[in-house]
Amino acid sequence: MSSNSPDTDEPKSLTAAWITSIVLIVVYVIGLLIFPPLYDAPKGEASSFVLFIGRFHPIFLHLPVGILSVLVFFELICSTRRGEQKFGEASLLMLVLGSAGAILAVFAGIMLSREGGYVGGNFSLHQTMGLLGTAGVLIALVIRLMGMGRNSMELLNAYRAVYFVSFGIMGLGAHFGGNMSHGNKFLIEHAPEWFKAPMVATEKLLLSLVEKPKPEKATTAVTPAPPAEVKPEVKPVAMDKAPTPPPPAPTPGGGEKLVFQHVILPVLTAKCNKCHSEEKSKGDLRMDTYEMAMKGGESGKNFVAGNLKDSLSIVRILLPDSDDEHMPPEGKDQLTPEETALLKWWVEQGASGTQTVNDAKFPAELQATVDGILKG
Ligand code: HEC
Repeated sequence: MSSNSPDTDEPKSLTAAWITSIVLIVVYVIGLLIFPPLYDAPKGEASSFVLFIGRFHPIFLHLPVGILSVLVFFELICSTRRGEQKFGEASLLMLVLGSAGAILAVFAGIMLSREGGYVGGNFSLHQTMGLLGTAGVLIALVIRLMGMGRNSMELLNAYRAVYFVSFGIMGLGAHFGGNMSHGNKFLIEHAPEWFKAPMVATEKLLLSLVEKPKPEKATTAVTPAPPAEVKPEVKPVAMDKAPTPPPPAPTPGGGEKLVFQHVILPVLTAKCNKCHSEEKSKGDLRMDTYEMAMKGGESGKNFVAGNLKDSLSIVRILLPDSDDEHMPPEGKDQLTPEETALLKWWVEQGASGTQTVNDAKFPAELQATVDGILKG
């Protein structure tokens, strides 16, 4: 095998690169068979080892992002024959390392998703684009090796095209991952208008492809929504008796304690708001203030005064644990029966944001729970 090659150096280094690349591809394919990407809530508990590795996803992902970004510049230089001669091998090395990093990030990501609670449009797009982008980079790697072996600029240019597209898909996928941890508005919040409007429109379009159509919102998804932030009207809960505009009553210490602020909110904070507050607002739902808890998320109607059946949060809390829509998601810290009863009681007697603890008549059997919460 080595006897007929006139130049001993080059084939040797490519052989090593071929072997590494094939190993990477095999690992990727077999890994996906063992840990298939899921788009619904995972069934059953993952092993603690899987969950342990999963938490490294946000760390591992910097590896491919960094290497593959630098590679973009190298490939621009390599697009001339001289550039390729000088930097081709360095680029190949980066491509191999970047692919390995991408594979690592993909599997850590899949393992992270086994914690449950990862569903929705941002997640679907993030997972799909991450998988496709990585596959694309691996295909690009094979084409690069073929191009280098045959010294063919055509193949190398084809490789670069595949690489740039794959890198773009991966980058976009990464963006939806960012949305998952920082919320959809994070990146564009302070962006200039000319940048924001097309971004928001593109993002909505992509999300509309993967998200279940929502009855009323379906049409707005495709049209570039006017990005002028119309402040969500603070609607006082329609059926509430007095038309009091809801001052959230930020009671400074010493003031009288409020039922929502000091009894209900602590329960939401403990059991719901890891996923439903400023940092993460799954289902577009935040419950860290009274207004936001009342306003609800994608579906609206989160807590409807006096009406358990229309209060989406209550409905979802009461679903059987195994139901995909049950809250908190399966495997997460669940509400105690007393906490559930307390939330139901609060909704039934008006879901008030201003009622004081002294005025409230808590059911006797919940008094101990309430006292416990008030003590902190
Ligand atoms: C581990 C994360 C997590 C926790 C904890 C959690 N949720 Fe959720 N929640 C989600 C995700 C993800 C979605 C979006 C997907 C869906 O609708 O199932 C969601 C959606 C919802 C929705 C639907 C929002 C809408 O308008 O469509 C409601 C209501 C809700 N959660 C209530 C709660 C309540 C109440 C709690 C606490 C008792 C809670 N969640 C705890 C992850 C979580």
